Amino acid sequence: SVRSVAFLRHAAVQQLSTAPAPSAMASRSMRSVNSYEYGGLEKLQLTDTMKVPVLRQPDDILVRVHCSTVQPIDIALLSGYGSVLLPLAARAAACGAEPDAVPPALPLILGRDFCGEVVAAGPDCPPELRQPGRLVWGARAPFESGCHAEFALASARHVRPVPDGVDPAAAACVPYPGLTALSAMLEAGLPTPASSFNWPLSCRSFRPDPAVLVLGASGGVGLLLLQLIRSLLPACRLVVTCPARHVADLPAAVNGCQLDSVLASGGQDSAAALQQLTAAPATFDAIIDLTRDAASRRRLLPTLRPGGRLATVSSPLLRLFDQRGVAGGAPVAARAFASDRAAGIRWAFFAQSGANLDYLARLLALGRLAPRIDRRFSMSGEFRTAFELAAGGDGRGMGRVLLDVAS
Ligand SMILES: NC(=O)c1ccc[n+]([C@@H]2O[C@H](COP(=O)([O-])OP(=O)(O)OC[C@H]3O[C@@H](n4cnc5c(N)ncnc54)[C@H](OP(=O)(O)O)[C@@H]3O)[C@@H](O)[C@H]2O)c1
Repeated sequence: SVRSVAFLRHAAVQQLSTAPAPSAMASRSMRSVNSYEYGGLEKLQLTDTMKVPVLRQPDDILVRVHCSTVQPIDIALLSGYGSVLLPLAARAAACGAEPDAVPPALPLILGRDFCGEVVAAGPDCPPELRQPGRLVWGARAPFESGCHAEFALASARHVRPVPDGVDPAAAACVPYPGLTALSAMLEAGLPTPASSFNWPLSCRSFRPDPAVLVLGASGGVGLLLLQLIRSLLPACRLVVTCPARHVADLPAAVNGCQLDSVLASGGQDSAAALQQLTAAPATFDAIIDLTRDAASRRRLLPTLRPGGRLATVSSPLLRLFDQRGVAGGAPVAARAFASDRAAGIRWAFFAQSGANLDYLARLLALGRLAPRIDRRFSMSGEFRTAFELAAGGDGRGMGRVLLDVAS
Protein backbone atom coordinates (compact mmCIF):
# COMPACT_ATOMS: atom_id res chain seq x y z
CA SER A 1 0.00 0.00 0.00
CA VAL A 2 1.01 3.67 -0.30
CA ARG A 3 1.41 3.81 3.48
CA SER A 4 3.86 0.89 3.66
CA VAL A 5 5.91 2.23 0.72
CA ALA A 6 6.10 5.58 2.51
CA PHE A 7 7.10 3.82 5.73
CA LEU A 8 9.90 1.87 4.01
CA ARG A 9 11.19 5.00 2.28
CA HIS A 10 11.14 6.86 5.59
CA ALA A 11 13.10 4.03 7.28
CA ALA A 12 15.66 4.04 4.44
CA VAL A 13 16.13 7.81 4.69
CA GLN A 14 16.77 7.44 8.44
CA GLN A 15 19.37 4.69 7.88
CA LEU A 16 21.27 6.36 5.03
CA SER A 17 21.39 9.90 6.41
CA THR A 18 24.53 11.60 7.62
CA ALA A 19 25.33 11.59 11.34
CA PRO A 20 24.16 12.22 14.00
CA ALA A 21 21.67 9.36 14.16
CA PRO A 22 18.39 11.01 13.09
CA SER A 23 16.46 8.94 15.65
CA ALA A 24 18.50 10.60 18.41
CA MET A 25 17.62 14.05 17.03
CA ALA A 26 13.95 13.15 16.63
CA SER A 27 13.56 12.38 20.32
CA ARG A 28 14.93 15.84 21.18
CA SER A 29 12.90 18.97 21.77
CA MET A 30 13.93 22.36 20.50
CA ARG A 31 13.54 26.01 21.39
CA SER A 32 11.19 27.91 19.09
CA VAL A 33 8.94 30.94 18.90
CA ASN A 34 5.48 29.66 18.08
CA SER A 35 1.78 30.26 18.37
CA TYR A 36 -1.06 27.83 19.01
CA GLU A 37 -3.68 30.23 17.63
CA TYR A 38 -4.03 33.00 15.07
CA GLY A 39 -4.06 36.56 16.37
CA GLY A 40 -1.81 39.45 17.35
CA LEU A 41 1.78 39.49 18.54
CA GLU A 42 0.61 38.66 22.09
CA LYS A 43 -0.07 35.09 20.87
CA LEU A 44 3.63 34.43 20.30
CA GLN A 45 5.50 32.43 22.91
CA LEU A 46 8.98 31.01 23.35
CA THR A 47 8.96 27.31 24.29
CA ASP A 48 11.42 24.43 24.33
CA THR A 49 8.87 21.68 23.80
CA MET A 50 8.53 21.38 19.99
CA LYS A 51 10.00 18.18 18.54
CA VAL A 52 13.05 18.48 16.27
CA PRO A 53 11.82 17.79 12.69
CA VAL A 54 12.87 14.44 11.20
CA LEU A 55 14.22 13.74 7.71
CA ARG A 56 11.44 12.20 5.61
CA GLN A 57 12.46 12.63 2.00
CA PRO A 58 15.81 11.43 0.58
CA ASP A 59 16.74 15.04 -0.24
CA ASP A 60 15.77 16.51 3.13
CA ILE A 61 18.31 18.51 5.14
CA LEU A 62 18.11 19.27 8.84
CA VAL A 63 19.61 22.67 9.58
CA ARG A 64 20.61 24.16 12.93
CA VAL A 65 19.39 27.72 12.39
CA HIS A 66 21.78 30.53 13.26
CA CYS A 67 19.85 33.53 11.94
CA SER A 68 16.41 34.29 10.54
CA THR A 69 14.39 37.45 9.96
CA VAL A 70 10.98 38.90 10.80
CA GLN A 71 9.07 40.04 7.70
CA PRO A 72 5.58 41.28 6.82
CA ILE A 73 4.55 37.73 5.79
CA ASP A 74 5.32 36.43 9.31
CA ILE A 75 3.05 39.00 10.92
CA ALA A 76 0.35 38.34 8.31
CA LEU A 77 0.54 34.54 8.79
CA LEU A 78 0.22 34.99 12.55
CA SER A 79 -3.01 36.95 11.99
CA GLY A 80 -4.46 34.01 10.01
CA TYR A 81 -3.61 35.30 6.52
CA GLY A 82 -3.68 32.38 4.09
CA SER A 83 -5.23 29.99 6.61
CA VAL A 84 -7.62 28.59 3.96
CA LEU A 85 -5.37 28.17 0.92
CA LEU A 86 -1.93 27.52 2.46
CA PRO A 87 -2.86 24.21 4.18
CA LEU A 88 -4.15 23.01 0.78
CA ALA A 89 -0.85 24.06 -0.80
CA ALA A 90 1.03 22.15 1.94
CA ARG A 91 -0.99 19.02 1.19
CA ALA A 92 -0.41 19.38 -2.55
CA ALA A 93 3.34 19.86 -2.03
CA ALA A 94 3.51 16.72 0.14
CA CYS A 95 1.66 14.64 -2.46
CA GLY A 96 3.02 11.08 -2.32
CA ALA A 97 4.58 11.44 1.12
CA GLU A 98 3.20 9.61 4.13
CA PRO A 99 0.05 11.28 5.52
CA ASP A 100 1.68 12.50 8.76
CA ALA A 101 4.40 14.30 6.72
CA VAL A 102 2.09 17.32 6.39
CA PRO A 103 2.42 19.29 9.59
CA PRO A 104 -0.81 20.72 11.01
CA ALA A 105 -1.28 24.47 10.35
CA LEU A 106 -1.09 25.14 14.12
CA PRO A 107 1.09 25.49 16.11
CA LEU A 108 2.68 27.98 13.79
CA ILE A 109 6.45 28.48 13.64
CA LEU A 110 7.19 31.68 11.70
CA GLY A 111 10.36 32.82 9.93
CA ARG A 112 10.92 32.33 6.19
CA ASP A 113 14.65 32.90 5.72
CA PHE A 114 17.39 30.90 7.35
CA CYS A 115 21.13 30.71 7.52
CA GLY A 116 22.54 27.86 9.56
CA GLU A 117 24.62 24.70 9.58
CA VAL A 118 23.86 21.23 8.24
CA VAL A 119 23.11 18.73 11.01
CA ALA A 120 21.86 15.77 8.96
CA ALA A 121 21.15 15.18 5.29
CA GLY A 122 19.28 12.52 3.33
CA PRO A 123 21.07 10.18 0.90
CA ASP A 124 20.02 12.12 -2.23
CA CYS A 125 21.52 15.44 -1.08
CA PRO A 126 24.54 16.63 -3.11
CA PRO A 127 27.94 16.09 -1.41
CA GLU A 128 28.43 19.78 -0.56
CA LEU A 129 25.21 19.70 1.47
CA ARG A 130 25.96 16.40 3.24
CA GLN A 131 28.83 17.78 5.33
CA PRO A 132 27.72 18.33 8.95
CA GLY A 133 28.61 21.86 10.00
CA ARG A 134 28.49 23.27 6.46
CA LEU A 135 26.94 26.75 6.44
CA VAL A 136 23.84 26.85 4.23
CA TRP A 137 21.00 29.25 3.44
CA GLY A 138 17.52 29.19 1.94
CA ALA A 139 13.90 30.16 2.47
CA ARG A 140 10.77 28.33 3.53
CA ALA A 141 7.55 28.80 1.56
CA PRO A 142 4.61 30.35 3.43
CA PHE A 143 2.87 26.94 3.64
CA GLU A 144 5.89 25.32 5.32
CA SER A 145 6.92 25.35 8.98
CA GLY A 146 9.31 28.24 9.62
CA CYS A 147 12.77 28.97 10.97
CA HIS A 148 12.24 30.78 14.28
CA ALA A 149 13.39 27.53 15.83
CA GLU A 150 16.67 25.83 16.72
CA PHE A 151 16.22 23.39 13.83
CA ALA A 152 14.46 23.58 10.47
CA LEU A 153 13.94 21.07 7.71
CA ALA A 154 14.39 21.98 4.04
CA SER A 155 14.72 20.26 0.70
CA ALA A 156 18.19 20.21 -0.89
CA ARG A 157 16.53 21.63 -4.02
CA HIS A 158 16.01 24.89 -2.13
CA VAL A 159 19.18 25.04 -0.02
CA ARG A 160 22.61 26.26 -1.07
CA PRO A 161 25.99 26.59 0.67
CA VAL A 162 26.64 30.13 1.90
CA PRO A 163 29.40 31.56 -0.33
CA ASP A 164 32.80 31.83 1.37
CA GLY A 165 33.36 35.15 3.08
CA VAL A 166 29.67 36.12 3.22
CA ASP A 167 28.40 37.20 6.63
CA PRO A 168 25.78 34.63 7.79
CA ALA A 169 23.59 37.45 9.13
CA ALA A 170 23.59 39.15 5.72
CA ALA A 171 22.85 35.82 4.02
CA ALA A 172 19.78 35.35 6.21
CA CYS A 173 18.29 38.60 4.87
CA VAL A 174 18.34 37.61 1.22
CA PRO A 175 16.52 34.42 0.07
CA TYR A 176 12.81 35.22 0.62
CA PRO A 177 12.89 38.89 -0.46
CA GLY A 178 15.52 38.21 -3.15
CA LEU A 179 13.53 35.38 -4.73
CA THR A 180 10.36 37.48 -4.50
CA ALA A 181 12.16 40.38 -6.19
CA LEU A 182 13.25 38.11 -9.06
CA SER A 183 9.68 36.76 -9.42
CA ALA A 184 8.39 40.32 -9.63
CA MET A 185 10.96 41.15 -12.31
CA LEU A 186 9.90 38.10 -14.30
CA GLU A 187 6.20 39.05 -14.06
CA ALA A 188 7.04 42.61 -15.09
CA GLY A 189 8.71 41.22 -18.21
CA LEU A 190 12.25 42.02 -17.11
CA PRO A 191 15.14 39.56 -17.47
CA THR A 192 15.99 37.23 -14.58
CA PRO A 193 18.63 34.47 -14.39
CA ALA A 194 15.94 31.75 -14.58
CA SER A 195 14.28 33.44 -17.58
CA SER A 196 17.43 34.42 -19.43
CA PHE A 197 16.91 31.61 -21.93
CA ASN A 198 13.64 32.95 -23.29
CA TRP A 199 13.97 36.59 -22.32
CA PRO A 200 14.93 37.92 -25.74
CA LEU A 201 11.73 36.35 -27.11
CA SER A 202 9.37 37.24 -24.28
CA CYS A 203 10.62 40.83 -24.07
CA ARG A 204 10.77 41.73 -27.76
CA SER A 205 9.36 45.15 -27.07
CA PHE A 206 12.10 46.03 -24.61
CA ARG A 207 14.95 48.33 -25.40
CA PRO A 208 18.31 47.61 -23.70
CA ASP A 209 17.79 50.71 -21.57
CA PRO A 210 14.17 50.32 -20.37
CA ALA A 211 12.59 52.76 -17.95
CA VAL A 212 11.53 50.97 -14.77
CA LEU A 213 9.40 52.34 -11.92
CA VAL A 214 9.55 50.68 -8.46
CA LEU A 215 6.88 51.73 -5.96
CA GLY A 216 7.65 51.35 -2.23
CA ALA A 217 11.34 50.53 -2.67
CA SER A 218 12.57 51.09 0.90
CA GLY A 219 11.77 47.66 2.38
CA GLY A 220 13.51 44.30 2.50
CA VAL A 221 12.27 43.35 -0.98
CA GLY A 222 12.74 46.81 -2.51
CA LEU A 223 16.36 47.38 -1.48
CA LEU A 224 17.39 44.04 -3.03
CA LEU A 225 15.17 44.55 -6.09
CA LEU A 226 16.87 47.85 -6.99
CA GLN A 227 20.30 46.16 -6.85
CA LEU A 228 19.06 43.22 -8.93
CA ILE A 229 17.55 45.48 -11.59
CA ARG A 230 20.80 47.43 -11.81
CA SER A 231 22.81 44.19 -12.09
CA LEU A 232 20.65 42.72 -14.84
CA LEU A 233 19.88 45.99 -16.66
CA PRO A 234 22.85 48.30 -16.07
CA ALA A 235 21.61 50.90 -18.57
CA CYS A 236 17.99 51.13 -17.42
CA ARG A 237 16.38 54.32 -16.13
CA LEU A 238 15.33 53.60 -12.55
CA VAL A 239 12.64 55.72 -10.89
CA VAL A 240 11.57 54.77 -7.37
CA THR A 241 9.17 55.86 -4.65
CA CYS A 242 9.40 55.47 -0.88
CA PRO A 243 8.08 57.27 2.20
CA ALA A 244 9.52 60.79 2.65
CA ARG A 245 11.44 59.76 5.78
CA HIS A 246 13.55 57.33 3.71
CA VAL A 247 14.16 59.48 0.59
CA ALA A 248 17.50 60.95 1.70
CA ASP A 249 18.91 57.62 2.94
CA LEU A 250 17.71 55.37 0.12
CA PRO A 251 20.63 55.87 -2.32
CA ALA A 252 23.12 54.90 0.41
CA ALA A 253 21.09 51.79 1.28
CA VAL A 254 21.31 50.18 -2.16
CA ASN A 255 25.02 49.34 -2.31
CA GLY A 256 25.95 52.29 -4.51
CA CYS A 257 23.56 51.40 -7.33
CA GLN A 258 22.49 54.42 -9.32
CA LEU A 259 18.91 55.69 -8.96
CA ASP A 260 17.70 58.22 -11.51
CA SER A 261 14.90 59.66 -9.41
CA VAL A 262 13.57 59.09 -5.87
CA LEU A 263 10.07 60.42 -5.13
CA ALA A 264 8.37 60.69 -1.76
CA SER A 265 5.21 58.56 -1.64
CA GLY A 266 2.96 57.02 0.99
CA GLY A 267 0.59 58.88 3.33
CA GLN A 268 0.14 62.54 2.44
CA ASP A 269 2.79 62.40 -0.28
CA SER A 270 0.97 59.76 -2.33
CA ALA A 271 -1.27 62.14 -4.26
CA ALA A 272 1.64 64.41 -5.24
CA ALA A 273 3.77 61.44 -6.34
CA LEU A 274 0.89 60.05 -8.37
CA GLN A 275 0.33 63.41 -10.05
CA GLN A 276 4.00 63.73 -10.93
CA LEU A 277 4.23 60.18 -12.30
CA THR A 278 1.01 60.30 -14.34
CA ALA A 279 1.88 63.69 -15.87
CA ALA A 280 3.87 61.90 -18.60
CA PRO A 281 1.92 58.96 -20.11
CA ALA A 282 3.69 56.00 -21.78
CA THR A 283 6.93 56.57 -19.85
CA PHE A 284 7.76 53.18 -18.32
CA ASP A 285 8.48 49.77 -19.80
CA ALA A 286 7.84 48.04 -16.49
CA ILE A 287 6.38 48.96 -13.10
CA ILE A 288 6.93 46.88 -9.97
CA ASP A 289 4.59 47.75 -7.13
CA LEU A 290 5.70 46.70 -3.64
CA THR A 291 3.00 48.72 -1.86
CA ARG A 292 -0.52 47.58 -0.95
CA ASP A 293 -2.10 50.61 -2.63
CA ALA A 294 -4.27 48.91 -5.28
CA ALA A 295 -6.12 52.11 -6.24
CA SER A 296 -2.94 54.04 -7.10
CA ARG A 297 -1.66 50.98 -8.96
CA ARG A 298 -4.52 51.14 -11.48
CA ARG A 299 -4.10 54.88 -11.96
CA LEU A 300 -0.49 54.32 -12.97
CA LEU A 301 -1.35 51.98 -15.85
CA PRO A 302 -1.40 54.82 -18.46
CA THR A 303 2.27 55.50 -17.65
CA LEU A 304 3.19 52.11 -19.18
CA ARG A 305 4.41 52.04 -22.75
CA PRO A 306 2.56 49.68 -25.14
CA GLY A 307 3.42 46.09 -24.20
CA GLY A 308 4.66 47.15 -20.76
CA ARG A 309 3.56 45.34 -17.60
CA LEU A 310 2.90 46.20 -13.98
CA ALA A 311 3.75 43.49 -11.42
CA THR A 312 2.36 43.60 -7.90
CA VAL A 313 3.47 41.49 -4.93
CA SER A 314 0.21 42.26 -3.08
CA SER A 315 -2.43 40.23 -4.90
CA PRO A 316 -5.82 39.66 -3.25
CA LEU A 317 -5.57 35.86 -3.75
CA LEU A 318 -5.06 34.56 -0.20
CA ARG A 319 -7.28 37.24 1.34
CA LEU A 320 -10.21 36.31 -0.94
CA PHE A 321 -9.99 32.66 0.11
CA ASP A 322 -9.69 33.68 3.78
CA GLN A 323 -12.83 35.80 3.50
CA ARG A 324 -14.99 33.52 1.36
CA GLY A 325 -13.67 29.98 1.81
CA VAL A 326 -12.57 27.73 -1.04
CA ALA A 327 -15.87 27.52 -2.91
CA GLY A 328 -16.64 31.24 -2.59
CA GLY A 329 -13.09 32.51 -3.00
CA ALA A 330 -12.09 30.57 -6.10
CA PRO A 331 -14.45 32.23 -8.61
CA VAL A 332 -13.90 35.73 -7.21
CA ALA A 333 -10.13 35.25 -7.26
CA ALA A 334 -10.31 33.92 -10.82
CA ARG A 335 -12.27 37.02 -11.91
CA ALA A 336 -9.84 39.38 -10.12
CA PHE A 337 -6.90 37.60 -11.74
CA ALA A 338 -8.43 37.80 -15.23
CA SER A 339 -9.40 41.45 -14.82
CA ASP A 340 -5.91 42.44 -13.61
CA ARG A 341 -4.25 40.43 -16.35
CA ALA A 342 -6.39 42.06 -19.03
CA ALA A 343 -5.34 45.45 -17.67
CA GLY A 344 -1.61 44.54 -17.79
CA ILE A 345 -1.27 43.80 -14.06
CA ARG A 346 0.55 40.58 -13.12
CA TRP A 347 0.53 38.96 -9.68
CA ALA A 348 3.99 38.06 -8.41
CA PHE A 349 4.72 35.62 -5.60
CA PHE A 350 7.76 34.32 -3.77
CA ALA A 351 8.90 31.25 -5.71
CA GLN A 352 11.54 28.66 -4.84
CA SER A 353 14.17 28.53 -7.59
CA GLY A 354 17.58 26.90 -7.26
CA ALA A 355 18.82 28.85 -10.31
CA ASN A 356 17.76 32.16 -8.81
CA LEU A 357 19.26 31.26 -5.40
CA ASP A 358 22.55 30.45 -7.14
CA TYR A 359 22.42 33.83 -8.85
CA LEU A 360 21.78 35.62 -5.55
CA ALA A 361 24.73 33.72 -4.02
CA ARG A 362 27.03 34.82 -6.84
CA LEU A 363 26.04 38.47 -6.48
CA LEU A 364 26.48 38.29 -2.68
CA ALA A 365 29.94 36.74 -3.05
CA LEU A 366 30.94 39.46 -5.53
CA GLY A 367 29.64 42.19 -3.24
CA ARG A 368 27.16 43.31 -5.89
CA LEU A 369 24.22 42.53 -3.60
CA ALA A 370 24.27 43.87 -0.06
CA PRO A 371 21.21 43.44 2.15
CA ARG A 372 20.59 46.01 4.82
CA ILE A 373 19.93 45.00 8.42
CA ASP A 374 17.70 47.45 10.26
CA ARG A 375 18.25 45.98 13.74
CA ARG A 376 19.36 42.70 15.25
CA PHE A 377 17.77 40.85 18.18
CA SER A 378 18.32 37.65 20.13
CA MET A 379 15.45 35.20 19.70
CA SER A 380 15.37 34.06 23.32
CA GLY A 381 15.35 37.44 24.99
CA GLU A 382 14.02 39.86 22.39
CA PHE A 383 11.72 38.11 19.90
CA ARG A 384 8.75 40.24 20.97
CA THR A 385 10.62 43.51 20.42
CA ALA A 386 11.78 42.21 17.03
CA PHE A 387 8.20 41.48 15.95
CA GLU A 388 6.95 44.84 17.26
CA LEU A 389 9.61 46.67 15.27
CA ALA A 390 8.95 44.65 12.09
CA ALA A 391 5.24 45.41 12.48
CA GLY A 392 6.05 49.13 12.12
CA GLY A 393 6.96 50.01 15.69
CA ASP A 394 8.77 53.19 16.71
CA GLY A 395 12.28 53.42 15.33
CA ARG A 396 11.63 51.19 12.29
CA GLY A 397 14.25 52.03 9.69
CA MET A 398 15.05 50.54 6.31
CA GLY A 399 15.95 46.88 5.75
CA ARG A 400 15.42 43.66 7.64
CA VAL A 401 14.79 42.93 11.29
CA LEU A 402 17.23 40.12 12.06
CA LEU A 403 16.70 37.40 14.67
CA ASP A 404 19.72 35.61 16.15
CA VAL A 405 18.04 32.24 16.63
CA ALA A 406 21.06 30.69 18.33
CA SER A 407 21.10 33.28 21.14
N1 LIG B 1 3.71 38.06 -2.99
C1 LIG B 1 4.71 37.57 -2.28
O1 LIG B 1 5.04 36.38 -2.39
C2 LIG B 1 5.46 38.49 -1.35
C3 LIG B 1 6.70 38.12 -0.84
C4 LIG B 1 7.40 39.02 -0.03
C5 LIG B 1 6.81 40.23 0.29
N2 LIG B 1 5.58 40.53 -0.18
C6 LIG B 1 4.96 41.83 0.13
O2 LIG B 1 5.80 42.83 -0.41
C7 LIG B 1 5.67 44.03 0.33
C8 LIG B 1 7.07 44.53 0.68
O3 LIG B 1 7.70 43.55 1.49
P1 LIG B 1 8.97 43.95 2.34
O4 LIG B 1 9.46 42.72 2.96
O5 LIG B 1 9.90 44.77 1.51
O6 LIG B 1 8.29 44.90 3.44
P2 LIG B 1 9.01 45.92 4.42
O7 LIG B 1 10.42 45.51 4.64
O8 LIG B 1 8.11 46.10 5.58
O9 LIG B 1 9.05 47.29 3.58
C9 LIG B 1 7.93 47.95 3.06
C10 LIG B 1 8.43 49.35 2.70
O10 LIG B 1 7.46 50.02 1.88
C11 LIG B 1 7.22 51.32 2.44
N3 LIG B 1 5.86 51.72 2.07
C12 LIG B 1 4.70 51.33 2.65
N4 LIG B 1 3.66 51.90 2.01
C13 LIG B 1 4.15 52.67 1.01
C14 LIG B 1 3.58 53.52 -0.01
N5 LIG B 1 2.26 53.66 -0.12
N6 LIG B 1 4.42 54.15 -0.85
C15 LIG B 1 5.76 54.00 -0.77
N7 LIG B 1 6.36 53.22 0.18
C16 LIG B 1 5.56 52.55 1.03
C17 LIG B 1 7.43 51.10 3.93
O11 LIG B 1 7.69 52.33 4.57
P3 LIG B 1 7.71 52.48 6.19
O12 LIG B 1 9.08 52.07 6.62
O13 LIG B 1 7.45 53.91 6.41
O14 LIG B 1 6.62 51.58 6.70
C18 LIG B 1 8.65 50.19 3.94
O15 LIG B 1 9.87 50.89 3.83
C19 LIG B 1 4.83 43.66 1.58
O16 LIG B 1 3.51 44.09 1.37
C20 LIG B 1 4.90 42.14 1.61
O17 LIG B 1 3.77 41.58 2.24
C21 LIG B 1 4.90 39.70 -1.01
